[in-house]
Amino acid sequence: MVDVNSLSSSVPTIGRLAVIGLGLIGGSFAKGIRQAGVCAEVVGCDPDPMARRLALPLGVVDRVTDNLAEAVRDADVILLAVPVLAMEKVLAELATLSLGQAVLTDVGSTKGAVVKAVEQAFGQIPPLFVPGHPIAGSEKSGVEAARAELFRRHKVILTPLENTSEQALELVTRLWHCLGADVEAMPLADHDEVLAATSHLPHLLAFSLVDTLAARSENLEIFRYAAGGFRDFTRIAASDPVMWRDVFLANRDAVLRSLDDFTRDLSRLREAVEGRDANTLLGVFTRAKAAREHFSTILARRAYMEPMQTQAINFIAQPGGRVNGSIRVPGDKSISHRSIMLGSLAEGVTEVEGFLEGEDSLATLQAFRDMGVVIEGPHHGRVTINGVGLQGLQAPPGPLYLGNSGTSMRLLAGLLAGQEFDTVLTGDASLSKRPMGRVAKPLREMGAQIETAADGRPPLRITGGSKLMGMDYQMPVASAQVKSCLLLAGLYAGGSTSVTEPAPTRDHTERMLKGFGYPIKVEGAKATIEAGHKLTACKIDVPADISSAAFFMVAASIAEGSDLTLEHVGINPTRVGVINILKAMGGDIELSNEREVGGEPVADIRIRSAKLKGIDIPIDQVPLAIDEFPVLFVAAACAQGRTVLRGAEELRVKESDRIQVMADGLQALGVRAEPTADGIIIDGGPIGGGKVDSHGDHRIAMSFSVASLRATGDIQISDCANVATSFPGFIELARSVGIQVSLEASA
Ligand code: S3P
Repeated sequence: MVDVNSLSSSVPTIGRLAVIGLGLIGGSFAKGIRQAGVCAEVVGCDPDPMARRLALPLGVVDRVTDNLAEAVRDADVILLAVPVLAMEKVLAELATLSLGQAVLTDVGSTKGAVVKAVEQAFGQIPPLFVPGHPIAGSEKSGVEAARAELFRRHKVILTPLENTSEQALELVTRLWHCLGADVEAMPLADHDEVLAATSHLPHLLAFSLVDTLAARSENLEIFRYAAGGFRDFTRIAASDPVMWRDVFLANRDAVLRSLDDFTRDLSRLREAVEGRDANTLLGVFTRAKAAREHFSTILARRAYMEPMQTQAINFIAQPGGRVNGSIRVPGDKSISHRSIMLGSLAEGVTEVEGFLEGEDSLATLQAFRDMGVVIEGPHHGRVTINGVGLQGLQAPPGPLYLGNSGTSMRLLAGLLAGQEFDTVLTGDASLSKRPMGRVAKPLREMGAQIETAADGRPPLRITGGSKLMGMDYQMPVASAQVKSCLLLAGLYAGGSTSVTEPAPTRDHTERMLKGFGYPIKVEGAKATIEAGHKLTACKIDVPADISSAAFFMVAASIAEGSDLTLEHVGINPTRVGVINILKAMGGDIELSNEREVGGEPVADIRIRSAKLKGIDIPIDQVPLAIDEFPVLFVAAACAQGRTVLRGAEELRVKESDRIQVMADGLQALGVRAEPTADGIIIDGGPIGGGKVDSHGDHRIAMSFSVASLRATGDIQISDCANVATSFPGFIELARSVGIQVSLEASA
């Protein structure tokens, strides 16, 4: 067999490739391999004289024949590219020939049927057989449609079997790579099931719709009135009929399963149209729109090349500059999450304005859509939630994926512990490392059934139908997420549920419950709630997030000559630690236009540059500035003297270990920063340029962008994709006021 290591894109290293079937796929493969120059001779075989006649002048093959034995003689690789049902006949003939050490592979779109045919023909599966399927095509068919670049940036799925030779697999993989394809291995059964749903079913629907419409109008006049929607939906109905007939016969069972699901859902839609059930229609359409938009994002990121990976995004921040202007940062993340949760559980329609369209709050929104809540938007920060009432959530179709968002997972855990149905909560790599025992433990004490992975990490498996009992809980850590989780569980628990916090934490849940008309008693550090009341829909105006504003407060403070106004910022007293700390450091911060919107205080904040000085950060400010420390450390690095933070061990279990990651980053820029168990000691001084790793933590990435204002060289910040979780549009907004940060997407 061919030495795979000698394969390169320019040197011919396989002697002969035989392509059986010179249609669109076989022809494109042959043409691409020929052009890549990795093969001494490409032989084509096709029974159709026209295909044979065209193949040579079109540059698809070097030689063409209608004789299978002649085509495969001395071939190193044989590619079967005939319709799935014709495969049987070809294979039967191949089995009678001596194939030597030739690697056999195919492009059939249903792998089960092809593998069965191979087994029948050869009496067993030859180890040199590699089943494959390129996910590429066109509504055009025939050798005349063959394109050497058809597979570039497309996925090719190989479904190797237990006895498949590794070398054969490697060779086939490398041939596809020569064509620019992205090769992925998958178990055979999974392949057939997935393709039935995502490819075969849509083709069936397109064929069927066009046929139904064509039958209505004698001379196809009806299509004169069809526009883009029809064209987009039915493009694939012009695909090769024989090939598709074979696909449906070969993948019958998997297709039937998908078709049954679809038929069921279509009947529901029919009933909804008939019964003028606007809510059901809107529910299906909003969910589908969100899913389709997600798919578009995947396509845009070329996830066909990189399936489940987030594209690496790095920032580059150039040194110097000052910050001027008047801006409004995006909506408050904590309030946005809660608006979806309480709006969904309310009776009536809740209108939200200023909603944060970041990935975290969108994860919460999607979770509620998955549980049957009809939510319109977001569109320019407007969201309309058609509340289902406290008992109206439905079992989601699968695990709820919460991305990077700890708030979503912890708050939902409480709310879902009180439902009748089971749920599984999962998240990304960072969230999967974060402690969930802090909510699972007290929830279990209330009677909830929750399983976590080792060490109390996600995923969380919540068994529904448990009878929750209220309790009086003294929180060991000052955490608004734990407090909120238990209060939400309390909506479903017998008796009363009280939570006492060791230090004040953000009280958005308590305020918003009141806003929805739900009684909650707050006495000092203790909040108490009882089940049995209802939430009434209301209007919510989400203020700008003080945690996002914090980056600009520090930016304007440290960059000489700055004067910046931040509009409509939430200044809830449980969130204003950053203002208090900056003022204590000598910051020039002025609040104006103070007012209350929907139960939350807001103000415009003007910040002018100031000479900051190092301080001992008062411990009572820690929970009030818990998310703002990364950027406050940057302020400390620019201050004169030493800043000491204590009592902030919680920072070690945020989206990253924020003490260590900030200390590493600051040190990389030449700042003296010494991490301690529960805080950090920073000596102000010059900031150099350099490389820092944000460890996928949005706030770290933005903090170092701000540091550039006082740096002496470029700061390269890696792994910044998660800035989109809390601050979509950060780069644009930062640049608009004078921070010279830009995006550098790397492969
Ligand atoms: C949040 C509470 C805080 C905060 C997080 C949002 C909330 O977490 O860090 O970003 O919305 O309740 P802890 O409760 O873990 O301190």
